[in-house]
Amino acid sequence: MNTITIHASGDHQKISRHIYGHFAEHLGRCITDGLWVGEDSPIPNTRGIRSDIVEALRRIKAPNLRWPGGCFADIYDWRDGIGPKAQRPVRRNFWGNVPEDNHFGTHEFMDLCEQVGCEAYIGGNVGSGNVREMRDWIEYLTSNDQGTFANQRRKNGRDAAWSIPFWGIGNENWGCGGNMTPEYYADLYCQYQNFIRNYADTPMMKIASGYGGSDTEGKDLAIFMDKITNRRFPVKTDGISIHYYVYLRNQMQHSATKFGDSEWFTVLKMANHIGHVIEENSRILDRFDPEKRMWLIVDEWGTWYPNEPGTNPEFLYQQNSMRDAVVAAHTLHLFQAHSDRVKLANIAQTVNVLQAMILTQGEQMILTPSYHVFDMFKAHQDATLLPVDLACETYASGDDSLPAISVSASRSDSGQILLTLCNLNPRESQSISCAIPDAAVTAVEGFVLAADDMTAHNTFEQPDRVQPTVFHGAAPEGQHRLNIQLPAASVVALTLS
Ligand code: AHR
Repeated sequence: MNTITIHASGDHQKISRHIYGHFAEHLGRCITDGLWVGEDSPIPNTRGIRSDIVEALRRIKAPNLRWPGGCFADIYDWRDGIGPKAQRPVRRNFWGNVPEDNHFGTHEFMDLCEQVGCEAYIGGNVGSGNVREMRDWIEYLTSNDQGTFANQRRKNGRDAAWSIPFWGIGNENWGCGGNMTPEYYADLYCQYQNFIRNYADTPMMKIASGYGGSDTEGKDLAIFMDKITNRRFPVKTDGISIHYYVYLRNQMQHSATKFGDSEWFTVLKMANHIGHVIEENSRILDRFDPEKRMWLIVDEWGTWYPNEPGTNPEFLYQQNSMRDAVVAAHTLHLFQAHSDRVKLANIAQTVNVLQAMILTQGEQMILTPSYHVFDMFKAHQDATLLPVDLACETYASGDDSLPAISVSASRSDSGQILLTLCNLNPRESQSISCAIPDAAVTAVEGFVLAADDMTAHNTFEQPDRVQPTVFHGAAPEGQHRLNIQLPAASVVALTLS
């Protein structure tokens, strides 16, 4: 038997809506032939941006979108992506070795953000650009004066400056973004942050490219933080980004949809490890920033199956199953549990790449099981995190194990409680006794995402095989207790009022 106690009058911090962020890179078919179909496409679009995708992202209240990469950010020259499309240069995007026509550039990205109703997170080029180019780009975007860059923007069709709340200074500079040491990047970071200026009257956070990935214990982050601290002039660092992929290179001949119990467990085990990574990196940040002013930003996360036949490594297209949905739910729960430090995250990526929300094929568009998790969890955005006690069974595989259940609860401004749960065990359902001692619950409504097979996924032939259905497994027992029956390999969202 599993037990949960929700402390409904307890107050943790707010859950930043920005942990529900997305990521769109010029990679595979994420942008070209994904989000961007062009003005002349027969696929319904607004100024070249696919309308069904915009509607889907609006539905899940996508709070922010990171662009143009990723690794691509560090080879991108923003000047290639402005002005008349016919005159934009075609460059080789060497991440995938394909031509990039630059038809989707600054104005198209900002248009996409405005259509979706989300905020822009732009990654600047440190790897192969320079400080002046980055400075000029920000002036082009955010200045309302009569300077050359603002006037160029006006000439290109946009009168008012944009607000850019999040600015990344490089990407994975310890790896694809320049193969730097943390010491070297720290010096570069100080230089860049000194010379880039936000001209808008809305704030812009300066975000350092941190040292995640191979440095899950935060060793390089400690070196970086040490190097930027106690300089002659103060250094502005509002956030540190880390990346965490459930990446299974060489571990197994792995497919996104053909797997058994042991592969399910391995993926969930690796997904669970992000909790440790967050704790280690937070511990380092606490030493330098005890007031928790700086955000820990996980601006790339998700599953990555590099042996996916026929699609990887070039295009990074992969299917998305119930397993990915459980990974998404559990990861979001872990972000929420660390809401005091983790305030922004971006699942990789939005369309047709890695753990995508959306897959397209010509005119067809399907929503993945991971998308449905974001939909079911959206009321957590900006709600107050509630303390939850969980005592649960273990889900064992060989000599190893994981907690069978993961859970999170929040209270909205109107007083409604959202309780989300997932069952990590793909074979056994879970009975849960849930106590809510300090609130009277009179109505329970909810949805469940589950399937008849742990490998179930949506296809262009069967687009609705995995989708949320009304949940009938929650039986109230008076006003302070609920008995919940979680199906195997499932995600559940319950609204308690
Ligand atoms: O998301 C794919 C790639 O993974 C990104 O470009 C890079 O930042 C990371 O290594």
